[in-house]
Amino acid sequence: MDVLVAYGSKMGGTAEIAEAVGTRLTERGHAVILTDASSASDASSFDAVVIGSALYSGRWRTDCVKVIKRLEHAAYQGPVWIFHSGPLGDEDADEPQPLPGTVGAAVDSLDVRDVRTFPGRLVDKPSGIVARLMARSFAGDWRDWGAIDAWADGIASALDESQAA
Ligand SMILES: Cc1cc2nc3c(=O)[nH]c(=O)nc-3n(C[C@H](O)[C@H](O)[C@H](O)COP(=O)(O)O)c2cc1C
Repeated sequence: MDVLVAYGSKMGGTAEIAEAVGTRLTERGHAVILTDASSASDASSFDAVVIGSALYSGRWRTDCVKVIKRLEHAAYQGPVWIFHSGPLGDEDADEPQPLPGTVGAAVDSLDVRDVRTFPGRLVDKPSGIVARLMARSFAGDWRDWGAIDAWADGIASALDESQAA
C-alpha cells in the first residue's frame, strides 16, 4: 500500500523515529514516502498516513497540525497512525501524553488506529535559552528503537490485513 510517513521535528529526534518507522514499513513491502510535514500537502492521496510530531510545551509542530486538519477537511477515509515524541528522563518517559487541543477535534473525525507516545531525545547543546536550561538536567536519548520497530510492525500487519480483505 502507498503510505505517507510525515513528521514534524525541530532537532531531528522525531525525524529519525519517523525514518525508522518508514524503513520498517518498506521492509514489510509497503511503498513509503517519508517527508517533513511541511511538504505533505497531498496526504489524502495515500492509502494510509502515519504522522509523528515532536512535543514542545505540550504542542505539536505546526506543520503536523496542518496535515491533520487537511485530512479532516478532505474527509480522508484511510487509516491514520499517530505518534508524538517528547518525554525525557529515566522516569515516566513512557507515560502517554495527551493529544494537543489543536488536533483533538480533527482527530475525532479520522480513522485513527493508534496514538503512541515515544520517549524523546535532547541534544547536549540545543539552540534556545529554554532548551539549554532543560539540557542541563535532561540531555540524553531515551528513544526506544525496539518499541518503535514493534509499533511499525503492528502498522504493517494492519495494512497487510486490509490489503488481503
Ligand atoms: C523547550 C522544550 C519544550 C519541551 N516540551 C515538551 C513537552 O511539552 N512534552 C514532552 O513530552 N517533551 C517536551 N520536550 C522534549 C522534546 O519533545 C524532545 O526533546 C523531543 O525528542 C524533541 O524532538 P525533535 O528532536 O524532533 O525536535 C521539550 C523540549 C524542549 C527543548
